[in-house]
Amino acid sequence: MSARTIGVGLISVGWMGRLHTRSYKSIPERFPELGVRPRLVIAADAVAEAAQQAVDQLGYERCTTDYRDVLSDPDVDVVSICAPNFLHKEFALAAAEAGKPFWIEKPMGRNVAESVEIARAASDAGLVTAVGFNYRNAPAVSHARELIERGALGMITNVRTSFLADYSSDPQGALTWRFERERAGSGVLGDLLSHGFDLATFLVGEIDEVSATTGTYITERAKPTSANASHFSKSAGGEMKTVENEDVALVIAKFASGAIGTFESSRIAIGPRAEYVIEVYGTEGSLRWDFQRMNELQVSLRSGENYGYTDVYMSPGHGDFARFQPGGGTSMGFDDLKAIEAALFVESVVTGEQKAPSVHDGLAAARAADAAERSAESREWVALPR
Ligand SMILES: NC(=O)c1ccc[n+]([C@@H]2O[C@H](COP(=O)([O-])OP(=O)(O)OC[C@H]3O[C@@H](n4cnc5c(N)ncnc54)[C@H](O)[C@@H]3O)[C@@H](O)[C@H]2O)c1
Repeated sequence: MSARTIGVGLISVGWMGRLHTRSYKSIPERFPELGVRPRLVIAADAVAEAAQQAVDQLGYERCTTDYRDVLSDPDVDVVSICAPNFLHKEFALAAAEAGKPFWIEKPMGRNVAESVEIARAASDAGLVTAVGFNYRNAPAVSHARELIERGALGMITNVRTSFLADYSSDPQGALTWRFERERAGSGVLGDLLSHGFDLATFLVGEIDEVSATTGTYITERAKPTSANASHFSKSAGGEMKTVENEDVALVIAKFASGAIGTFESSRIAIGPRAEYVIEVYGTEGSLRWDFQRMNELQVSLRSGENYGYTDVYMSPGHGDFARFQPGGGTSMGFDDLKAIEAALFVESVVTGEQKAPSVHDGLAAARAADAAERSAESREWVALPR
């Protein structure tokens, strides 16, 4: 059987744009049963040099500095939206209008209003979508979900989620779009906890209500000196500007199931580098996953011989592990989670059935972040709309 060609259009050639591209490329090898051969058609970036790199380094056939060229290209079947947050709504609405299924990075919109518009546009156009909630795809998370679903942990009582990173811990870190309310929306609530809210929802169900507090501790940063500075770039000596969104957030939550939980996040933590942890506790056991030790799941079951955690090393049989490594103990990496995401997106496009996290999941995370922001302002509990 000859493979079906899927024309890929990319909008924004930054960290995520490059990673989406590598992920599409891996589909024929990692997911041969999809019978899909991605064709890298056209990439857009506002910075001409970055757009050109998409041709020279990534293998796109053509490039442009105008995203509209991607959406109007008849060879493009699917679109990746990997732009900074403030452009997501414009690009997603345009993709929906052009009838192109899109894979959009998180946070989907800068706020709930934008996320509602994006979700509605995709639904009205009848498009399948994907949102960049890659941590769902870790085999350890798949195994955790399986354990929870088959009742191994008993009734879920509480959840602890903490997303602690150090990417902004240096006061000389450049003031890129991520620190501006106009271009990013919220700070860690959207940037990091969108993943946390999604992961907790994926494992234990919908969040009903939250109470939160937030803080900004590095209140000024220097503007970047180069056009393609990232949030990992340093910018000593540039013009100082105010940081407009939160560095740290603490959220407590009630889930629809009756479970309760905490969500903690920082982008200025010193020590944890990308320590993204979820712990789920039940009446019969608990589990703990840390992205920094992505290939392990710590599990403790009352029925086990010993209390305390057992480290379960990911092996063939856990989630999609076997697609990447033949034997347990050999590690998968972050990029592999995105390869799975690409496959879920493309499978959604090919089958017409939504397999990847959708715009509705993007909206659910936005609602949790928005409720947390409102709670931090009002100092009251805020219910999430249904
Ligand atoms: N899923 C994850 O774990 C994850 C990780 C990192 C970033 N992200 C998300 O991915 C998105 C992009 O983040 P990034 O780290 O790749 O950013 P980045 O800064 O590395 O890249 C952004 C790119 O967008 C380009 N751009 C700016 N304006 C544009 C325009 N008008 N048209 C086309 N391109 C334009 C920039 O030139 C740059 O190349 C953000 O929404 C971010 O939250 C998700």
